[in-house]
Amino acid sequence: MKKVGFIGWRGMVGSVLMDRMNELKDFDQMESYFFSTSQVGQEAPAYSSEKLLKDANSIDELRAMDVIVTCQGGDYTKSIHPSLRESGWNGYWVDAASTLRMKDSSIIVLDPVNRDVIDKGLNNGVKDFVGGNCTVSLMMMSLGGLFKHDAIEWLTSMTYQAASGGGARHMKELLTQMNTIGSNFVNMDKDLARNITEVDRLVTNTFRDGSLDTSCFGAPLAGNLIPWIDSAVEAGQTREEWKGISETNKILGRTDNIIPIDGTCVRIGTMRCHSQAFTIKLKKDIPMDEITQMIGSHNDWVKVIDNSPEETRASLTPAAVSGTMDIPIGRLRKMNIGGEYLNAFTCGDQLLWGAAEPVRRMLNILLESGK
Ligand code: HSE
Repeated sequence: MKKVGFIGWRGMVGSVLMDRMNELKDFDQMESYFFSTSQVGQEAPAYSSEKLLKDANSIDELRAMDVIVTCQGGDYTKSIHPSLRESGWNGYWVDAASTLRMKDSSIIVLDPVNRDVIDKGLNNGVKDFVGGNCTVSLMMMSLGGLFKHDAIEWLTSMTYQAASGGGARHMKELLTQMNTIGSNFVNMDKDLARNITEVDRLVTNTFRDGSLDTSCFGAPLAGNLIPWIDSAVEAGQTREEWKGISETNKILGRTDNIIPIDGTCVRIGTMRCHSQAFTIKLKKDIPMDEITQMIGSHNDWVKVIDNSPEETRASLTPAAVSGTMDIPIGRLRKMNIGGEYLNAFTCGDQLLWGAAEPVRRMLNILLESGK
């Protein structure tokens, strides 16, 4: 059996990955070893093939692995991956962080969409496989059918991204802010509370008086939104927005024939589901029933939601999707701009299909390939 080393398995994405792997009994297919940067020698989890945690900074210990799966983050990849490769290690590196994504030597993995690119890479000796940006992966899972039929001329994605995209601390900061705002309302003078403009004044004051902890987001997120995610790149885009065009086209293996993609990425006060509103310019005026068929038949997780208020409220919200593998896509309609313009809205769990699942599935593809 292959020796697989796990790093960053206790963080948020790592924990979601461990839960899925346990649930699906993936550990039965490998010898698993658990590494740590801070608790070397302490007890490993029950499903480990070895009792104690190994040293995530030891090139010698890492070199003994056939496959390394890391959710430790970009800094770890930056510091360890080059030394490990320079040491002559020729194993498979499967990573959730973005560091290696755009390198020519790596493939961004989302096998329901790009299994052909993955298989070609494996046959050509590619050794680094990296999970994509969450928003990109969720978009591609929802629109996979249109990409597969090469039906898209260009698209815009306006996002509504959850706190979890920033990390566990960010989720807690959102809840703390919600609590402060809610408590201020509950505890306000009962006479003043009858007047909604007074209630609103209290909430607005809370946003501005510095009493909310905003150390993670840099602005209130509860009762607010922040139309900026990650650092600035060229031409006024954020890095998150830039990933939309660059990662999507790399995943599709069409960096020489790109589909233009752009939009505004916005952080909102949800916990772990990223939503996106698309304007899609189709290459031609495709009838709605064909579009529905293309989208709905692409993979086992995408679900076309009827464009009705009941179905939308029941199935196309973070509250409905959180913690599930479902990729609902709805609000599908031709826009009044013209028959080639399609409106769509999707929602997906940022920690599952957006992070842990493509990595988990890539590991299984490797183990099954026998390479
Ligand atoms: N960058 C994403 C976000 C999460 O901030 O929501 C990881 O892909």
